Amino acid sequence: VRVVSDADPCREYLAGPAQENCTLAILEEENGIGLSIIIDQEGFIADIGYDDVMELKYKNHLVEKIIDASGRSVLPGLVDAHTHPVWAGDRVHEFSMKLAGASYMDIYEAGGGIHFTVNHTRKASEDELYNLLKERLMRMLANGTVLVEGKSGYGLDTENEIKMLRVLERAKRELPIDISSTFCGAHAVPKNQTAEEATQNVLTRQLPEVMRLQELGELHVDSIDVFCEKGVFDIDQSRKILKAGRQAGLRLNFHADELTPICGTEMGAALGAEAMSHLEEISQEGITAMAVKPSVAVILPTTAYLLRLNPPPVRKMINQGVPVALGSDFNPNAYCLSMPLVMNLACVLFGMTLPEVLVAATINAAAALGRQETNGSLEVGKYGDLLILNAPKWEHLIYQMGDIQQIIGQVVKRGRIV
Ligand code: NIG
Ligand code: FE
Repeated sequence: VRVVSDADPCREYLAGPAQENCTLAILEEENGIGLSIIIDQEGFIADIGYDDVMELKYKNHLVEKIIDASGRSVLPGLVDAHTHPVWAGDRVHEFSMKLAGASYMDIYEAGGGIHFTVNHTRKASEDELYNLLKERLMRMLANGTVLVEGKSGYGLDTENEIKMLRVLERAKRELPIDISSTFCGAHAVPKNQTAEEATQNVLTRQLPEVMRLQELGELHVDSIDVFCEKGVFDIDQSRKILKAGRQAGLRLNFHADELTPICGTEMGAALGAEAMSHLEEISQEGITAMAVKPSVAVILPTTAYLLRLNPPPVRKMINQGVPVALGSDFNPNAYCLSMPLVMNLACVLFGMTLPEVLVAATINAAAALGRQETNGSLEVGKYGDLLILNAPKWEHLIYQMGDIQQIIGQVVKRGRIV
């Protein structure tokens, strides 16, 4: 994990021509010193160096493609560490209710919110869900995201949770974006169950079936998630589910201390959770516990903005050594799939600096998903996943709000322009 405050944030590579059976990304800076990035046929970064050196070194190699990024900036592909991308049934009708003052829990308790989306998602076929997911993921990619965490959680029963996870598997096979899957059967309490019954359902039915399919190689689930929240799954129920997930070999990455301070973070840290999300209501003890582990804090500015929550204490977390990552939290409540907008919100609403949000949306987000060896920075041995910006300074990505197609010139995924 690269801790935010120490990070070297902008790796603007400058370059000239180079070779081998490879793709080359080039950026030329005004002072004329250039760097080349060599991406091999398998899509990994094979070399990075000054133009003159690289020119000599790769003189006799065949270059499949040269991408000329002269005068532009090159960044690692963005990583979105928290999304709910598989669902049918948007909630545009709830937006005006929220603007009029209804809280997240008011809508949830009235049987709307997640419940509305669960009804629609249960009715949708795998193909319908896949088509919805595909469109969303391709737009994320166009907004610079090359690795995304995606949760189940709108099925809330074995059949429908597995349907969602299968849809994510299909996207992994068919689309040029990497996905880390999370089983979130405990995302809400189904209307006809108590939280205790829902917990038992996850423990005795959903999780065992997910793990059976995982063993057969039909699913590749990385993490387990719970909406640990007052009025949803309490601390004990969340702990039981997370422990069972851990025993089954999953990473722990869950919703903690979002709406009410219930010390979910302390519980998660005690279990060794790799990441925890939201954290608007984290306590000082929670911050200390996350720094010691360390556990990655996945901050979700869209949700805090839309629900007008207290800002999470990001500055305190960074100062005290908690690695901070960012996620879009794309879901029917927070319909945002653009990480550059998320980065902008994190700067303006939470006081993060530009280098901090870049680190949080690349290497730290990769670390939240356990993918820091392959994603999150431009280094030899990692995936050749790059953003080439139509701008001489990378900060334009965040500064120029809401017109991202103009700024992102090319997204390169494993050496191929996508
Ligand atoms: O992260 N808090 C729980 N999960 C989502 C919301 C999902 C939904 O409302 O559909 C979140 O904000
Ligand atoms: Fe979420």
